[in-house]
Amino acid sequence: ASILTGAGRGRAFDELNDAAAQRLLEEQKHVFADWSTVKQCLENGTTLQGRDRDILDALVELDARLDLTAYTATAKRLLKDATNKVNPLEGWTPSVPQGDLLEAHSEQWRAMERIGLREVGKCAFVLVAGGLGERLGYDGIKVSLPTESTTGTCYLELYIKTILAFERRSGNTLPLCLMLSKDTEAATRALLKEHNNFGMRADQISFVVQAGVPALSDAEARFVLENNEILCKPHGHGDVHSLLAQSGLPKKWLARGLKRVFFFQDTNAFALRTLLPALGSAASRNLDVCSTCVERRAGEAMGALCLLKKGTSSLLKNVEYNQLEPLLLSTTGKGDVDTPSPYPGNTNQLIISLSGEHGYVATLERTGGNVPEFVNPKFNANRTFKKPARLECMMQDYPQLLQGGSVGFVTLTRNAVREYAPVKNSPESAIDKVKQGLDAHCASSGEADFYALHGDFLRCGRDVVIGGKDSPVLYRGLSVEMPPRIVLSPSFALIEDDIVKAVKGVTVHKGGTLIVEGEGSVELEDVIVEEGSALRISTVRGVELRVLGLNVANDGYRIEAPGVTKAEVIRGFRIVRRDETHLRFEEPGSYAVAP
Ligand code: UTP
Repeated sequence: ASILTGAGRGRAFDELNDAAAQRLLEEQKHVFADWSTVKQCLENGTTLQGRDRDILDALVELDARLDLTAYTATAKRLLKDATNKVNPLEGWTPSVPQGDLLEAHSEQWRAMERIGLREVGKCAFVLVAGGLGERLGYDGIKVSLPTESTTGTCYLELYIKTILAFERRSGNTLPLCLMLSKDTEAATRALLKEHNNFGMRADQISFVVQAGVPALSDAEARFVLENNEILCKPHGHGDVHSLLAQSGLPKKWLARGLKRVFFFQDTNAFALRTLLPALGSAASRNLDVCSTCVERRAGEAMGALCLLKKGTSSLLKNVEYNQLEPLLLSTTGKGDVDTPSPYPGNTNQLIISLSGEHGYVATLERTGGNVPEFVNPKFNANRTFKKPARLECMMQDYPQLLQGGSVGFVTLTRNAVREYAPVKNSPESAIDKVKQGLDAHCASSGEADFYALHGDFLRCGRDVVIGGKDSPVLYRGLSVEMPPRIVLSPSFALIEDDIVKAVKGVTVHKGGTLIVEGEGSVELEDVIVEEGSALRISTVRGVELRVLGLNVANDGYRIEAPGVTKAEVIRGFRIVRRDETHLRFEEPGSYAVAP
């Protein structure tokens, strides 16, 4: 009997005599302790035992999932190009693409938000959360981190609460799919379970789980053995498209009457706020794919959208930052040196249309969602690899699967703060980024940006005064100027029109805290939060509350360095609630609070 029987047969191993299978095993024979015995067993059909049997089983399993012959062939081709320093964009000339530009507080922005709010009731949401977050230096899952430490709301909770607020405004149930990996699956499921899915129904949430791909030790695509196992590494967020294709979810969403899917990432607290103007823009231009962009800075670790031309072909493509510099140097003689860059910075938040010839469902059916792969080996001086490489893929390369269709982007701007504040870096690497004139994109800066955005959002109301920032304080060596700490729940306001309606006269002085949390409807009129004081308003669904003429003066909340828990330590502080004025309404009904 074949030793492969019962071990699950991979495509390459269908026949023991299959030449491709034999060649593959020959190429990877270094992973076996005793290759000649393995070979003999394969030839004789005798049963292989022990460690080599486990390795063979692992190869068979990987092959069934990945087609190792194809994987190694692609790897060899790409590794050869990388070794020879072949420019993958050779022959393409970049130019600045034309897209939509929206500025917060403008009439055009508000018009797009209104359309976005209407269209969001027909959206599915896909959160890619399989990444390791090595740069952040945090050993837990990133979605469990607090978006800010005034309320401690974690990313996953903020995302789910915002989707639930979209649902209440539209009356539709909206699906959320999470892409996880073996590094994040158990902890993410446990987080959801512990918090009862943060209020979302279990049947609204689905999961796809990415598996690793074999790490490669050299240009011959030789696999790596670690602790007697084939070493596998993440394949990148581009897996989301093939996994969704396999899951059949997009088809179901389309059949349910949904129109678009929104893809977003694990630690950008602005993702679902920026969605609404971006969605309005995408819908009004009828785009098949729309990327949300912000102004990009020279040298920033953020892809740039470029219109690439070669002969008669032209395509709008995300060019990753490591490829942008050589592309610009070779075509313009000047690298990625301008700030702001003329090329929009891709935040990797994609709005993709489900239906039609160039829609997501049809495209996945045609291509299986397999976006192009790339490899990024780091070389020693003698051209050996510093550490094992692997094939990777990126979700923003999805437009390369299209054959036609309309691909575009929208750039969002706001004077007060950039519309993109991901938390990706450790405090140490954030210090280096700041030295280079880039955003810190770490936990403390993400928190300060969160308050800045909410303060600026509140300014859409009448007579709103938000006090100045605290003097800069070093947290883990990084200088942070903290604005008044304003946290507004998505139920309170989703778009600028909501703030216009609900806010007439609010002042939050320096060092002050204003929290509006919960699902009720709240109006604020002539409310003053004195310097360093805290006002917290909590409501449940069905509460209609007017707060009229309130002057809040108390000891408020204070920032204390360096923090205790791991999540606090990576930002370098925690917030201590000394005192607050807490207006709490736990029974539905109409209320007013006045002096
Ligand atoms: P990042 O670029 O932040 O990468 O991913 P990362 O792997 O999470 O972090 P580092 O590079 O190790 O520091 C962008 C988004 O893509 C997801 C991440 O979870 C994040 O939301 N991602 C990344 C995946 O879902 N799978 C992957 O294989 C890689």
